[in-house]
Amino acid sequence: MIDLIIKNAKVATASDLFICDIGVDKEKIVFLEKNSSKVAKRTIDAKNQYVLPGGVDGHCHLDQRTKDGTEMSDNFESGSRSAAFGGTTTIMPFAIQFKGESLRKIIDEYHTRANDQSYIDYTFHPIISDASSKVIGQELPAMVKDGYTHFKIYMTYEDLQLNDREILDTLEAAGREKAVVMIHAENYECLKWLTEKLEAEGKTDPVHHSDSRPGVVESEATNRAIALSRITKTPILFVHVSDREAIETIRNAQNKGYKIYAETCPQYLFLKRDDLKKGNFEGAKYICSPPPRDPENQKYVWNGIQNGTFDILSSDHAPFNFKGDKGKMINGDKTPFKNIPNGVPGLETRLPLLFSEGVLGKKISINKFVEVTSTNPAKIYGLYPKKGTISIGSDADIVIWDTGLEKKIKNSDLHHDTDYTPYEGMTVKCWPGTVISRGNVVVENGKLLGKKGFGKFLKSEISNYVY
Ligand code: URP
Ligand code: ZN
Ligand code: ZN
Repeated sequence: MIDLIIKNAKVATASDLFICDIGVDKEKIVFLEKNSSKVAKRTIDAKNQYVLPGGVDGHCHLDQRTKDGTEMSDNFESGSRSAAFGGTTTIMPFAIQFKGESLRKIIDEYHTRANDQSYIDYTFHPIISDASSKVIGQELPAMVKDGYTHFKIYMTYEDLQLNDREILDTLEAAGREKAVVMIHAENYECLKWLTEKLEAEGKTDPVHHSDSRPGVVESEATNRAIALSRITKTPILFVHVSDREAIETIRNAQNKGYKIYAETCPQYLFLKRDDLKKGNFEGAKYICSPPPRDPENQKYVWNGIQNGTFDILSSDHAPFNFKGDKGKMINGDKTPFKNIPNGVPGLETRLPLLFSEGVLGKKISINKFVEVTSTNPAKIYGLYPKKGTISIGSDADIVIWDTGLEKKIKNSDLHHDTDYTPYEGMTVKCWPGTVISRGNVVVENGKLLGKKGFGKFLKSEISNYVY
């Protein structure tokens, strides 16, 4: 007898929509059949419910080391728990390298942070901030061989940014090794110059974070990174793209046949610059980089999902408490925007927001939803078809969705350890009802049934996207 059958499932993959029974045994999907007569230890009837591959969140920050006295409010336990409640069954947090550190050492350290903590499977993106010849000449190739095939680099942040020369060296090495390079594209010198001018005028409130990082700061860096990618003939993936000109720049490069990939995030569809103006320092809750733009800009982000400019939609969950002295209020409720830690929480709300407004709001198809939230991140980061689809032989990471709801998002209902959500009060029309990770029910009827430590580290294959 097999472990589980999900009957009458309305299954959507990135390409198809069909009704069938899904058989699960020993953590894998073992059959997809119409009106199966097989029996299982447990049967779930999913009649009239969408049954989708578990979400793959290709970009989140958990228990990430910082240098400014702040502390992330979610670790692998609370972050993975929250992700599971939101229908995500694979997460990809970052392992950050500071200058002078060995990549291998930081990876070992992040394994210690994650070990026996996660409810769902995970992999890491190492962040390269020290592009020394040892790091990119020796460590990077060795790490790719060991299953770390995707890295992030920054064009901004004092401690993390690489200059153009270092980016060229890193891209050349990554290209040789067939690694995926994720790029945070903002021009550091420009935003630093703007920040200094704003400070001189006494403009240090949260909303001025947005003035220090206008769209052109992002689009200039995007354009330059595409040039560096072309020079080294190495594909790149832009993360958390927000600005309409940056989107157009990426689209143009893709149209010319360059291997340029892109990710966006819910904050660029559902949050806006005016949120940063909220009083009593509330605007700090919305500070992330790049910053939320204006409502007109949101249309370009939706369009980028519709027309395929964006391959991936991730949360970029970067959790800092609003209250207390380790988060947004690191220097009290007058903390100048420059010192407010960047990032918003969103692991749990990513899928319900996009499903509700995108699919049920008829902006995107159910297949596009699966593509950008599960299949593409699994493919691009070398985990497909183990993750990211419903097919025979794939891990049984499956979400049965409840629709026809009117649910107000409230932080008190979420399962992260962060003291706010920027989506407080927004209404969604769906929520994951049953969440299954490798055949095990992790969440059902709002209850956590999964076990801390069940989630395993996943080694990544070389991605087809970089050939
Ligand atoms: O503001 C953001 N996005 N914080 C997280 C760090 C990053 O650059 O992704
Ligand atoms: Zn970034
Ligand atoms: Zn991020």
